[in-house]
Amino acid sequence: FEPKTPQYSTGDATSFAYVSARERWPVIITQGIDDVHRSIWASEDEELIREGKWIVSELARLKYELQHDRKLSPIPDDGEGDIAAYNKELEALGNPKWHFVPWLYSECYLYRRISSIFKHTQKWKSYDLFARQKMSTFKSSRPAVLELAARYKDIVTELESKHTLKGVHNQEELEEAEKILFTEMCEICLWGNATDLSLLTNLSYEDIQKLQGSEARKASEKNIIVNHLGKAFDVLTAAQRSGKKERRVDIVLDNAGFELFVDLILAGYLLAAGLATTIVLHPKSIPWFVSDVLPQDFAALISALADPQKFYSTLSDDDKHSGSAPSPLSEPEVSNLKFLFEHWSRFHAEGQLVLRPNTFWTAGGSFWRLPKTEPSLLEDLKESELVIFKGDLNYRKLTADAAWPATTPFAEAIGPLGPGSGIRVLALRTCKADVVVGLPEGEDERIKATEGGGGDSGARKWAWSGKWAVVQFSDGKA
Ligand code: F6P
Ligand code: MG
Repeated sequence: FEPKTPQYSTGDATSFAYVSARERWPVIITQGIDDVHRSIWASEDEELIREGKWIVSELARLKYELQHDRKLSPIPDDGEGDIAAYNKELEALGNPKWHFVPWLYSECYLYRRISSIFKHTQKWKSYDLFARQKMSTFKSSRPAVLELAARYKDIVTELESKHTLKGVHNQEELEEAEKILFTEMCEICLWGNATDLSLLTNLSYEDIQKLQGSEARKASEKNIIVNHLGKAFDVLTAAQRSGKKERRVDIVLDNAGFELFVDLILAGYLLAAGLATTIVLHPKSIPWFVSDVLPQDFAALISALADPQKFYSTLSDDDKHSGSAPSPLSEPEVSNLKFLFEHWSRFHAEGQLVLRPNTFWTAGGSFWRLPKTEPSLLEDLKESELVIFKGDLNYRKLTADAAWPATTPFAEAIGPLGPGSGIRVLALRTCKADVVVGLPEGEDERIKATEGGGGDSGARKWAWSGKWAVVQFSDGKA
C-alpha cells in the first residue's frame, strides 16, 4: 500500500519541503505560542494559567528541536488510538531528524504532536490554537462573502421556485445552463482554497481579497491546467437521470473560514439543483495544518451568519490596531447572509448536510493506506456518487506525496483509490506543493519556464504558490 516512487523529503534542497521545515513551521509554532499567551492573559483561572504556561514551554521545546534538527521524538501517549501508528512509523523510519524526513509524515507528525500537548492538560483539551486566525481571515474576506451570498440567493431562489432558470426554455438549455453553473460553483470552491492560512506568511489581506472576487476567478480559469469538471458533471447528471432516489456527494474538507463558506455554497447548490440529495462533509478531528476545518468551525461559521451584523461589527484585533471600525452591513446584505444561514441550517436539520469526522484524515500516512487501515471508511465512500477532495494536502495524500513524473496518469498516482476502487474521485486542488500528476507532455517544462516557475533550478517552483490549479477525476472502475 505504498508507491515505489520515493516521497518528497525535508532534505531535498529543491523541494518546498525544505523551505517548509526550515522557515514556515517555526513561524507557525511561534504564532501558536502567541495565541496561547493571549488566552492566558484573558483568563483568571489559576489552573488554566498554570497549564497554559506549560503548553507554551512544550511548544517552545518543539520549535527548538525543529530548528536544531533534533530527532523527532515519540509522541507521548495521550489516550487516543492513533498515537501508536504514529510512533510505529517513526521507528520504521529509523528515528529520523527534522531536516531529513519524509515531508508528508513529518508535517502530520508536527500537528499531531502539538495536539498531544493540549490533550495532556485538563483545561485546554479541546482548545484550538488556530481558531482566532481562522475566524479573523474569514472576517477579512467580507467583500467576496457578500458577493457570493447575493449570487447564491438568486440562483437558489430561481432553482427552488420554478425548478428552472431564467431564459431557459427546454431540457437541453436547462442542462447547458446547469453545467455552466456547476462549473462556476466548483471553480469558486476550487479557488477558495488558494487562500489558506499556512501560506499567509507571504500573502497580504489585500492579495486575498483580490483572489476571491469574481473577476479574479474568470481570469484564473487559464490557470487550471487540467480541468475534468465536465466528467464530474456527467456522473452527477447520469445518476440523476437514472431515477436513483438517494444520491450522495462527499466533500473531504480542507480549510475553515472562506473555503468552508464556498464549500457550503457548492453543497447548497448541488442540493438545490437536485444534483445530489445528501452531502457528507468530512472535517478533521484535531487542529490541523493551521486552517483545516474542525466541527466547531462549522458551528462558528453558521452562527456568524445567524447574526451577521453582530459578527461584522465586533472589532477584530486588526481593527483595534488600525483604529478603524468596520462599516455596518446594508439591509440587503444582512438579508442575503441570513438567507444562507436559513438555507444551510435547514439542510443540516433535515439530515441532507451531514458532518462525519474520522481520525483517518489526521493519520500520518497517505490515502493509499485507506483500504488497509480504515476499511469501513472505504466502504462508506463507495456509497457516494462523487467524493470531492479539497485542497493541497488532500492531493498530496491521494498521490502519496511521491515524486511522480508530472505525466503520470492521475488514476495511477492515486493507487488503491484509482481503477477498481469503486470510488469516484474528484480532486479540486490549487498547487501549493511539489507533487503534480496527470499533466500533458511538456506542460511542466512550459510552466517552469514562466516567470518564477523555477526554470532549470531543478525545483518545480510554479507549483508552490497556489497560482496554478488542477481539477482531476478518476471513475474508480476496474
Ligand atoms: O504548501 C504549504 C502547505 O502547508 C503544504 O505543506 C500543505 O500541503 C498545504 O500548504 C496546506 O494547504 P491546503 O490547506 O490547501 O491543504
Ligand atoms: Mg488546509
